[in-house]
Amino acid sequence: MFQQGIIWPDNNGVHINAHGGGVIYHEDRYYWFGEHKIAGEAGNLAHVGVHVYSSKDLYHWEDEGIAFSVSEDPDNPVVKACIIERPKVIYHAENDEFIMWFHHELKGRGYGSTLTGLAVSNTITGPYCYVHSLRPNAGEWPLNVKPFHKRGVPETTKDSYCGGPGCLSGPIDTVNILGRDFKKGQMSRDMTLFVDDDGTAYHIHSSEENSTIHISRLSDDYKSFSSEYVRAFPGRYMEAPALFKHKGVYYFVASGCTGWSHNAARSAVADSIFGPWKELGNPCISTGKETTYDSQVTCILPVRNRENAFIFMADRWKPENAIDGRYVWLPVQFAEDGKVFLAWMDEWDLEYWSRGS
Ligand code: GAL
Repeated sequence: MFQQGIIWPDNNGVHINAHGGGVIYHEDRYYWFGEHKIAGEAGNLAHVGVHVYSSKDLYHWEDEGIAFSVSEDPDNPVVKACIIERPKVIYHAENDEFIMWFHHELKGRGYGSTLTGLAVSNTITGPYCYVHSLRPNAGEWPLNVKPFHKRGVPETTKDSYCGGPGCLSGPIDTVNILGRDFKKGQMSRDMTLFVDDDGTAYHIHSSEENSTIHISRLSDDYKSFSSEYVRAFPGRYMEAPALFKHKGVYYFVASGCTGWSHNAARSAVADSIFGPWKELGNPCISTGKETTYDSQVTCILPVRNRENAFIFMADRWKPENAIDGRYVWLPVQFAEDGKVFLAWMDEWDLEYWSRGS
């Protein structure tokens, strides 16, 4: 039974500590990776690393320990008290390697570094070995670049943390953040990964001062960026991207851009991962829909051995006591017109999909 927003104990009776998480299925088990938080506001920084849990049934989770640890070395970019958020792991079958990418901010610089970090392991539960962090797609224009992006960048174009709509000096199609960051690489904050049926992997992240989502194809070994990427939802200020595929159609769910405060979710659909994407609006339909039921999406999980079964996984953040963040999981529902929706349920279980819903 999934019960929203209460303590979710692991096999040791301790509340699961895997925030901003992602789940992958490997050899008959689900593995849930997420941010290990500590108590208080300090918990919003990475003091420990990425925690991993495993489960056979999605209800009972075993603590598998810290998959990726922060460093004690002040010269290491992933030193304790940097920011590590939204870690996602994918498996590269040919190389038999587990690839973790995560939103990384250098210690003491707030959210100004806008990096994506890479760590790799030969075993799913780790330890993951830190490779490096980078700003994606340096020196590369997206497939759908516009002529004005190439025309130069006015001095006035701001270069500081953007808190959402209204923070730039004009609409995104007049303020050339893409061109500003062309040489040094594009900004990458909230992110997720998606592996398509043919094994091609994508890195999806909030870019251009959070105004625009970038969808990038990763290299064949998943450890770097190919030069192929697109801009999506320009000027829509989306965070917490999550992506899944159902019956050949790509679905995208994300939040708006209000930091730890919850806002209304967004959804979109496309026939190709590179778009064009069509927005479908807020997928939440019950009371509480304006705040995504006091949560923010982190991942959409396909359930094994069940048809049309996807779980919307979200965080109920507690920034004042980060370790106490809670989880909201809901079944994704598909409407006849192709839209996705999320109805509130205080509690539910996987038999939901056997009841012919
Ligand atoms: C949220 C984001 C979180 C975290 C937070 C910081 O919007 O989704 O991952 O970065 O902002 O304020």
